[in-house]
Amino acid sequence: EWKGSGKSLNILLTGGTGYIGSHVAVVLAAARHRTVLFDNLANSQRDVVDKLETIIGQKQTFVEGDVRDTALVTAILRAHAIDAVIHFAGAKAVGESVAKPIEYYANNVKGGISLLEAMNTAQVKNLVFSSSATVYGDPHYLPLDEEHPVSATNPYGRTKLHMEEILADVVRADPSWHIANLRYFNPVGGHDSGLIGETPNGIPNNLMPYIAQVASGQLPFLRVFGNDYPTPDGTGVRDYIHVMDLAEGHLAAIDFLMTRSTELNTFNLGTGRGYSVLEMVHAFEKACGSPIPYHIMPRRPGDIATCYAKVDKAADLLGWNCRRNLDDMCASIWRFQHRTADERSFALASAPEGC
Ligand code: WQD
Repeated sequence: EWKGSGKSLNILLTGGTGYIGSHVAVVLAAARHRTVLFDNLANSQRDVVDKLETIIGQKQTFVEGDVRDTALVTAILRAHAIDAVIHFAGAKAVGESVAKPIEYYANNVKGGISLLEAMNTAQVKNLVFSSSATVYGDPHYLPLDEEHPVSATNPYGRTKLHMEEILADVVRADPSWHIANLRYFNPVGGHDSGLIGETPNGIPNNLMPYIAQVASGQLPFLRVFGNDYPTPDGTGVRDYIHVMDLAEGHLAAIDFLMTRSTELNTFNLGTGRGYSVLEMVHAFEKACGSPIPYHIMPRRPGDIATCYAKVDKAADLLGWNCRRNLDDMCASIWRFQHRTADERSFALASAPEGC
């Protein structure tokens, strides 16, 4: 396991029971930090806290609430003597953001500003922000480095861009803020225990949870959105990163903030290589041992052909590198899918008659 700088910190994780937040909680605990999980449970389940207690072997501090409740966040920062905040809380579905822009700006931008107000009041000025490679828009060149021009093609991406600009202004006004801005590529997979992983509400938008549900028989086949892209096999190429590697990147960012950081620093968190949709299908077939039926469909509106990261800056400044490969990603997805399917069937089997 990645061990950080050694000093034990109190760290607030907004969105802490979510997909990325819960995996970061595991990594921070292993590095002897104390985390406070704060979540409104809009897109995560309360039993993640119990699963984290099983994995970590210690009681977790969970507070249910919304980052837009500035007074509550301020009280939490003070009550738990928080040293640093990692801000995961927010909505992240591109298609949904096109349909519900007001909700996305209220949740992601108003929520982000409320958190900054609370941190300023409580004089807590160490922040790791969860951003996204979506801010790069359609790549002008590849691999994407942190200097690549940014632009947004949907409200979700614009909320991330607005927050990045707000953070830059906050640091310019008050350099005592130490901020790490992490641009995630495509997080996939779950903890080795199979207890936590990606649990999208309803039909998954993202590729890997969808493939996992086809493999477990919950969905009939995968729709491949276009095979006429300028890529080796015609299907979309993305930089998929194991969520545990991504989580370790957050520990490295916390260490960086608390020791060597100056003001605002942006880092790509990816693997530096891309895989196509069909490569992901074949890798998953290897992991689950059965074929994944798919049909080629028209391109999905707003999709780009290829996206993958240049990861030198995180390696050089954070001393962080990905340690897990594609087989590890697919094996962990399948392990989690299995376990949740078992839990679902156990719940059905043990449910009282006629319920
Ligand atoms: C990956 C590839 C699809 C589903 C999105 C957000 C991004 C981030 C990660 C939040 C593409 C293809 C997908 C399917 C398919 N989220 N695909 N059939 O679009 O790269 O990124 O999620 O931060 O902001 O934009 O991820 O998993 O949706 O798609 O063929 O059923 O799989 O066309 O090439 P994406 P994705």
